[in-house]
Order: sequence, then C-alpha cells, then structure tokens
Amino acid sequence: MIETVPVTTGSDTHTHSRRRFLRQAGGLAALTALTGTGVLSWRTATQGVLSPATGPAYVAWGQFHDRGGQPLDLVRAAVLAASAHNTQPWRFRLATGRIDLYAVPDRTTGTMDQLRREMYISLGCALENLTLAAQAAGLAPSVRVTPDPADPTLAASVQLGSGEPLDSLLYRAIPDRHTNRGPYRTGRPVPAGVLDEMAALATEPDTSVVWWTGAGDKHTFADLTVRATEAIVADHAQAADDYRWWRDTPAAIQHFRDGITLDASGLPPLVRAAGKILPGQSRAEYGASWIASTRDTHVTTAAAFGAVVVHDPADHAQRVRAGRVWQRMHLWATAHGLGLQPLNQMLERADRELATGQQPVFGTAVAALLPERGWAPVMPFRIGYPTIDPLPSPRRSAADVTTRS
Ligand SMILES: Cc1cc2nc3c(=O)[nH]c(=O)nc-3n(C[C@H](O)[C@H](O)[C@H](O)COP(=O)(O)O)c2cc1C
Repeated sequence: MIETVPVTTGSDTHTHSRRRFLRQAGGLAALTALTGTGVLSWRTATQGVLSPATGPAYVAWGQFHDRGGQPLDLVRAAVLAASAHNTQPWRFRLATGRIDLYAVPDRTTGTMDQLRREMYISLGCALENLTLAAQAAGLAPSVRVTPDPADPTLAASVQLGSGEPLDSLLYRAIPDRHTNRGPYRTGRPVPAGVLDEMAALATEPDTSVVWWTGAGDKHTFADLTVRATEAIVADHAQAADDYRWWRDTPAAIQHFRDGITLDASGLPPLVRAAGKILPGQSRAEYGASWIASTRDTHVTTAAAFGAVVVHDPADHAQRVRAGRVWQRMHLWATAHGLGLQPLNQMLERADRELATGQQPVFGTAVAALLPERGWAPVMPFRIGYPTIDPLPSPRRSAADVTTRS
C-alpha cells in the first residue's frame, strides 16, 4: 500500500504519496546527489525549512500584544482574522471616535468566489476581532453593518465610546487561532453539548449554525465536498484562480504576506520540510493532491461537519454577520482545544453555477443538505480534535492596511 502524506495546495491541504515526492525529485538518487552537491543544504537554507512561519510576514502576530492606547491597536487584532485564501480583502479608515471597514474588491479569488460571498464573510471575521479588541480596551463598540446603501464596499462602521474593559476568553484566543488542515482524531466525537454551546454563539441577526453528526449525513456532506473539489480542479478558470493565491517560496511569502502556504498545511514537520526541499508543484499536481487530501484527510477524519447559515446568502450584511459568527466560533474552538477548517468547495461550485447560468447540480445538492427551509449555508466546515498544532499564516500589518481621514 502506498503511504500518503498531505501537502498544502490552494485553499486546502492536498495529499501526495511519499513515492510521488521522490518521483518529483527524480528519486532517491537525485536526493542523494543533491546532498552531495550542496544543493540540498542550499534549498534547506533558502526555502525556510528550518524556520517555518517566521520573518517579516509573520510579525503581525506578535504585534497583537503591542498596546499603544491607539485605535491602531484594534486594527492589529482585526488583521489576524481568517479570510478566504488568506486574501485579507480589507482596509481600515480611522476617523475620530470611529473605525470604518472597507472591502478591497481586487483582493478577490475571482471565479472561486464568483458572488463575493467569501469576501464579505472575511470582512465579518475582521469585524469580530476588531469588536472584541474594542471591548477589551473598554471602548464600548457600537457596530453598524453595511451602513451606506450607496457604497457596498463599506462593510461596517464601528463607533467607539467608553465603557468597562472586557478581557474575554475570545479576545485572548485571537493570536492563537489558526485554520487547522491536519488530520483530526478519528473515533473521538465532539460531545453534543459542545456543539450546542458553539451554535449558541450565533447571536447575530439572521444567522444560525447547523451540524451534520450522523454517519449518513456526514457521508453525504463528505461526498459532496469531494465531488465539488474535483469539479473545481476540472474547471480551468477556477483551478487557475485557486493556484494564484498559493505562495510556495519564502520570497513570495515575505513579499506578498498573504495567500496559502505549506506551513499552514497541518503537515508533520518532517513531511513539511521534505515538501519545501523538493521542487514545487505544477498546477495539475497541485489540483490532484488537493482532491486526494480532501478525500483522504479532511473529510475522513472530521468528527462532524457544520455550516453557518443565513436567510439570504446574497445579502452583504448577512454575510458580514456570518463572518462574525465564524470568527467567534473559531476563537471559542481554539480556547477549547478544537480544530476547525472551512470546506467551501460545494458553495464555490454552486455560486459558479449560479453566476454562469449552468445547471444547478451543486446548488440542488446543497439545498438538499439543509432540512430547514428558509436557511442557506454560507460557511461549511469540519470540526474535530487536532492531531497537529497549526502554524500561523502570513499577514500584512495593521499599518499596511490603515488610512486616516
Ligand atoms: C470565507 C472563508 C472561506 C474559507 N474557505 C476555506 C476552504 O474552503 N478551505 C480551507 O482550507 N480554508 C478556508 N478558509 C480559511 C482561510 O484559508 C484562512 O483563514 C486563511 O488562510 C488565513 O489563515 P488562518 O485562518 O490560519 O489565519 C476560509 C476562510 C474564510 C474566512
């Protein structure tokens, strides 16, 4: 039997066989030859093998603890939020007693997020961190979501006042929260009481959380996710847009400070190191390994699946609120030793069908997943107890994404 290891690609981790790793490098002989010529130690030094998730691209994580008593402190918390493909599609404008959060429309994943659902959810994630930081600083935030109908790029406006500081569990979890793409513990279900507590975090208007925990339901969710991944990889435009946010060299990571990296893949350290030393993946290999890791790791080791749901998935305000709920749940999960990973493939296909007028194959399947009428999933995910501690992803700093008015 071929032993398999997952390798990060695109919006997800992907699986490669070790044999394939070696084939890619021209086999064991090539590795030995590389060692002899010093190429291996050169690649070890230049590919960040010995220093994962370090350098200027990761400085923002440490800046969370810098407190200057300024509104920029709140933005330092906001930029650590989750975002689709780590696009960080945000800009913050500081005004007197107010912070405005804007979408940056060109920081998009294109055909992977054809209806910009994920972009607005990402903005909601940043808004949640910003709000928690304002509460922790005693600034009594008052949030208005999409306050200007004439400007859809204005995702939220946060008025700051004064109140009692609230140093919450969720706030403290901000610098420790990372998407966990590793295998989760099989045979260890998440207790129903824990799932209920998480669902109760969906206090934003028009939001709720749905769980799939039974074997049959989990199988349906898993099958749909794998089929959607295959459909994305087979779709030239989607596969290209997915690959565009893959950062496979330290130079690209430090330059762009965004996107998906091998360090964020949830791989064991040695496998990650091998993945860095060997030559990078072509787009086709990248797609094939994404399908394999979705099928063999992500859906097979999930303790349960869930989704944040809203009444109207096309409504920007509801998307932003769903993002707040997702970020809140992920912070709560982090504080309670749980791993979470979004699995958006089924919606990425359903949205693409809708936008291009195709038969709603995935749209129909997604609708059938949800027993309750009047709710639509906007953020499907898996949950479980991690086997691997996730590493941080790169970030642009608060100063990079902030303007003053
Ligand atoms: C709207 C949205 C959609 C996402 N979809 C996926 C997904 O389908 N698969 C995945 O592995 N991660 C997904 N993520 C996680 C992001 O890739 C992750 O937040 C980003 O890379 C930053 O990493 P971090 O969460 O560890 O800080 C999604 C995140 C958001 C906010």
